[in-house]
Amino acid sequence: MKRTLGTCYYPEHWSRDIWEDDARRMVEAGLKWVRIGEFAWSRLEPVAGQYDFNWLDDAIEVLGAVGLKVVLGTPTATPPRWMIDRHPDMIAVDVDGRPRKFGSRRHYCFSHEGYKKDCASIVSKLAERYGKNPHVAAWQTDNEYGCHDTTISYSDAARVAFQGWLQMQFDGDIAALNSAWGNVFWSMDYDRFDQIDLPNLTVTEPNPSHTLAFRRFSSDQVVAFNRIQTDIIHAHSGAPISHNYMGRITDFDHFKVGDDLEIATWDSYPLGFLEDRVGADAERQRTFARQGDPDFQALHHDLYRAVGKGRWWVMEQQPGPVNWAPYNPAPLPGMVRLWSWEAFAHGAEAVCYFRWRQAPFAQEQMHAGMLRPDSADAPAMGEAMQVAAELKDAPDVVQAQAQVALIFDYDADFAWATQPHGEGLSYFGLVFDTYRALRSLGLSVDIQRADSSDFEGYKVVIAPGLMHMSEDVKAALTASSAQVLIGPRSGARDANMAIPIPLPPAIPDLDVTVSYVESLRPDLPIPLKGGGMVHQYMEALEGTASIVETTENGAAVAMSSGTVTYLGAWLDLAGLQRVIGNACAAAGVTTVTLPDGVRIRDCGAERFWFNYNANPVTIDGMSIEAAGVVRQSAPKQL
Ligand code: GAL
Repeated sequence: MKRTLGTCYYPEHWSRDIWEDDARRMVEAGLKWVRIGEFAWSRLEPVAGQYDFNWLDDAIEVLGAVGLKVVLGTPTATPPRWMIDRHPDMIAVDVDGRPRKFGSRRHYCFSHEGYKKDCASIVSKLAERYGKNPHVAAWQTDNEYGCHDTTISYSDAARVAFQGWLQMQFDGDIAALNSAWGNVFWSMDYDRFDQIDLPNLTVTEPNPSHTLAFRRFSSDQVVAFNRIQTDIIHAHSGAPISHNYMGRITDFDHFKVGDDLEIATWDSYPLGFLEDRVGADAERQRTFARQGDPDFQALHHDLYRAVGKGRWWVMEQQPGPVNWAPYNPAPLPGMVRLWSWEAFAHGAEAVCYFRWRQAPFAQEQMHAGMLRPDSADAPAMGEAMQVAAELKDAPDVVQAQAQVALIFDYDADFAWATQPHGEGLSYFGLVFDTYRALRSLGLSVDIQRADSSDFEGYKVVIAPGLMHMSEDVKAALTASSAQVLIGPRSGARDANMAIPIPLPPAIPDLDVTVSYVESLRPDLPIPLKGGGMVHQYMEALEGTASIVETTENGAAVAMSSGTVTYLGAWLDLAGLQRVIGNACAAAGVTTVTLPDGVRIRDCGAERFWFNYNANPVTIDGMSIEAAGVVRQSAPKQL
């Protein structure tokens, strides 16, 4: 399969007279894909039950006639205004109990039965009409589940559905729930499931077991909502179905949504993310202001490759300044090309630029496109055309297994979010620090889900922060022939968020016990003997396994037995580089410490070098221009 480019287009925003010209220019730019339709509900069903598909038939025909392949989005992220009159209680409710009004998008609650029925009906209409259309080569369900903090809703519909969900989880046994949650504490016992409210607006914090259950429920509601659509589309169309996930949105289990889809896609906005999601300090934000964080996109590429079971795209690629971050600079010349190649280097099948033409109206007026509002080329156009030209003689998409696997588990994220135990501590943050250390050592990484019981072919497997580890996960990790690095905070809670006894991590054949834990003030890190620091979070370890890493004062930080190491602390980059470097050395995996901003990615027979810096670098005698990409066809041994 060839690597391809595309764009996101809104024919309903533009006069019919320019559609042909737009389609022709897309082809001239070297684009193959065009995503349409995902926000067009009010134009497809202007009045409840009265449909107008003529314009969409026409748009698909115009685009398809020049050879473009259409990704058709279902419009369920933007229910029209009449829908709210029909179901006033379908809107989501925020944590403070306030309804989230009509007037933007994603104004719905995943638990509302009436809304779900109406979604099924518009999706059926689309699937019946376009399921066999030769130009519709892929589908997208909804748009960015979870965007604008919309996974969790504290509505009445959610409360009723949550009670039913709990009843199923506990087989109708309220005493079992009381016992699993420890409701005897503060006299929180329930007599019946219909007494259980949502865990917001309580006097002080709710029981963490209650909160975690509600997070799991909310995630399952997204999965179920998506499945309604995929069942319908699959019944009418053989084209693959995708959903466009986001950067650092972790409040629903993407692996479970992905189980019903053929392709995972995600929306990559490197400059917006650096300002509002990466968690970089001010100096790092300044250094990479026009390039984006060198590791943030890469982590998501690897994550969504796993979510898509190998098939993944960037559905929306930032083409210029965006409108939604605290500051919205323009990318350094070369970065749109670099971001595109970084995606292909991680196995992307397609990269689509968002959006084709900047809209002069409404919320995203300040968001660049490939064209300016007056239809002249915007700066991204030249770079996209360069990538299109380079793709002509580039190899096809390859699936290549990396030597290192890093586990990512959404349920662990729910548990950390429920009980961070220190300001700013998050599962995503821990995984991201680990990923950054891996990339800084020149390594290519595969992400694996925690319940993938097979680590065959990996030389190093890393499992940070898996709060709840089932016995199966422990067994799969310890049975692997890889060097395995587990922790911190792994196995720290049972399935219902209580501290297990025997105390964590309770890993077979590894005599390590966490006797207590502490979270650290940012200004009180603990120096490590070999250099670097423990910051954020530290566990006191005891047991007979060998101590392989200590603080300057001699406290155990990591302990090993055979191929398994337990790391009982959140380390800074220098500390992580050493501990991971040791695991790699033991596994025979070569590492190299790369300068900040320079990254490598191996993909089959290709090695890519990326320079995220605003100045050229020379490494190993090879120079890479600012914002430059070097593609070598046979990886040179490091
Ligand atoms: C994405 C979204 C698009 C558009 C874009 C702007 O999150 O899917 O519809 O809003 O952001 O950057």
